[in-house]
Amino acid sequence: GIPKLRERYGDCFDIGAAVNMTTMETQRELLAAHFNSLTAENDMKFERIHPDEGTYDFEAADRIVAFADEHGMKVRGHTLVWHNQTPEWVFRAPGGGPADRKTLLARMKSHIDTVVGRYKGRIYCWDVVNEAVDDGAGAWLRRSPWREGIGEDYIARAFEYAHAADPSALLFYNDYNECHPEKRDKIIRLLRTLQAQGVPVHGVGLQGHWSLNEPEPDDIRAAIEGYAALGLQLQVTELDVSVFEFGDRRTDLSEPPAERMERQAERYERIFRLFREYKDVIAAVTFWGAADDYTWLDDFPVRGRKNWPLLFDERHRPKPAFWRVAEWG
Ligand code: XIL
Repeated sequence: GIPKLRERYGDCFDIGAAVNMTTMETQRELLAAHFNSLTAENDMKFERIHPDEGTYDFEAADRIVAFADEHGMKVRGHTLVWHNQTPEWVFRAPGGGPADRKTLLARMKSHIDTVVGRYKGRIYCWDVVNEAVDDGAGAWLRRSPWREGIGEDYIARAFEYAHAADPSALLFYNDYNECHPEKRDKIIRLLRTLQAQGVPVHGVGLQGHWSLNEPEPDDIRAAIEGYAALGLQLQVTELDVSVFEFGDRRTDLSEPPAERMERQAERYERIFRLFREYKDVIAAVTFWGAADDYTWLDDFPVRGRKNWPLLFDERHRPKPAFWRVAEWG
């Protein structure tokens, strides 16, 4: 039979997948067999769960938590404070114009209280703040509307509110381009600053949206070591390996060429060998999807371009990359 990822990695780390209402049905068996942790791909984001002031919609999020319970899986919460997928009303004053600091903090607090509070004891960790660090060469923190309205301490406040809402939840800072040396150092500076202020931050999420040729394994290693040196728990939170090289925008592939699948398999093998080396600091590896019949990369960064970034093919059969990840030791 086919080895089960959650069993193969039982002594290393949890194996997670991001899900939505469709894949929870269409990929049900695959999810139940291989994964022991779930993340909501979109259903716990601000715009979904809190679309209007005072209006919450927990239906989809509840279904994910129930599915996880039925299948003995953990749930990672994603995400509370982010510049994307947050409705405009949050940042608007009642009379129009931008909301002031006090209003924004109150809205942030009631959002976090309500969402984290509802799943207290059932969602064991939260991506409290997502993508706050700037990608460019100069700036440190991104110009998020949260930061524009509150100031740089919006990050610290978010962690404090989350900790108050569920003192036993593990609280994560999550970001992408997390292995690029310059951005890595800015993320580390942020985490150190929070730690020096006594802010309850417990973990760092490495999104892991990687491509055929980057990041370099040496940069992945340096990032893992740099974050681990902060004494934080590490999780890879959104892993996928595009079949394109970084920045390649070609649109002429209608099926996955064997040669790209082989390169992808080699990448996955090296990546997981590295993860196993650091199994004492990496607590979970979550894929951003489960099988190639659905991936957000079908629409990003090139709209409508098919991608095949996961371990299972469009019919849920193991790909070459699966065997390189599952067969070791
Ligand atoms: C993506 C979802 O996969 C898409 O369906 C949605 O349209 C946009 O967001 N970093 C994150 C995730 O933290 O929340 C993003 O998820 C992918 C990048």
